[in-house]
Amino acid sequence: MIRTEKLTKKFGNDRGIFGLDLEVPKGCIYGFVGHNGAGKTTAIKILCGLLKPESGRAFIGDVEVIPRNFTKIKRSIGYMPDITGVYDQMSVWEFLDFYGAAFKIPPKQRKERIEQILFLTHAENMIDYQVASLSRGMRQKVGLAKTLIHDPDVLILDEPAGGLDPNARIEMRKTIAGLRELGKTILLSSHILPELASICDRVGIVNKGHLLAQGTVKEISEKLQENLTILITVDSEIEKALAIVSALDTVQDAVIADKNHISLSYTGGRETAGVLLEKLMSAGVKVRWFAENEADLENVFINITSGNGRKAE
Ligand SMILES: Nc1ncnc2c1ncn2[C@@H]1O[C@H](COP(=O)(O)OP(=O)(O)OP(=O)(O)O)[C@@H](O)[C@H]1O
Ligand SMILES: [Mg+2]
Repeated sequence: MIRTEKLTKKFGNDRGIFGLDLEVPKGCIYGFVGHNGAGKTTAIKILCGLLKPESGRAFIGDVEVIPRNFTKIKRSIGYMPDITGVYDQMSVWEFLDFYGAAFKIPPKQRKERIEQILFLTHAENMIDYQVASLSRGMRQKVGLAKTLIHDPDVLILDEPAGGLDPNARIEMRKTIAGLRELGKTILLSSHILPELASICDRVGIVNKGHLLAQGTVKEISEKLQENLTILITVDSEIEKALAIVSALDTVQDAVIADKNHISLSYTGGRETAGVLLEKLMSAGVKVRWFAENEADLENVFINITSGNGRKAE
């Protein structure tokens, strides 16, 4: 539903985005992750037709993002910029009505639509508030409501949880997950990673303008993690167990984590990791639990962006 092909926009030699190939399937939430300055907003602005790429192409559905398609593109996407520009002197109602009018929604339908989108973003109570009086969290809700005014199929949200407190972040996540239930395709950017893992179907990791990895969190961690972290729980004889696993060439950094747990790094690949269990059991060690400690998004991200930024290539 959202696609870019070798999208490039350079600001000098090493700033901008370089050959980004993003792919966001219909109905999914896609987390676009990267450090500050990684190129998220640049890619998002190109997708919304607000910035011209130097080379490469961008598509929303099967419509290419080029000037002659801008009217079509604007109707199919709801864009929430990283800094929501709101008109302070208006009430929330006037603000949304203004955007509704810009999309040529007839006045009668507009009223119904505004009530509906404020309900969807849990902002019903703010309808008569002055925009200037809204807190940051309230503004984000109204900003999100604005993206929904013309009922677009695609939402492009640049840091929708930026500047929100933990509770407001959780609420924003729930709201966004609710919008997926309505069939929207959603691309959202963030540099706060664990919060994406729980709602995103897919993730794209960008570093210094290069896309390092794209896929589900699980796929990315499997592809990019060189070593598996394995956690073994034994009933007793933990020293003996430690000696057995440490003797293998494929084991690194085996340590007793606490009285029943050994943590180790296995370099032999997922297919052969069972050898650890075999060795322990044949030596009579009672193994209670043996599991791969799945990398969370934070660790995956730190691992792959701490190199020279080109690892996956
Ligand atoms: N108009 C511009 N002129 C010059 N450089 C720019 C411009 N816009 C962006 N850049 C540079 O391009 C790089 C990517 O910026 P971008 O805003 O896309 O990053 P980002 O991933 O959105 O970061 P953040 O998490 O801080 O929002 C940065 O190095 C930035 O300084
Ligand atoms: Mg940005």
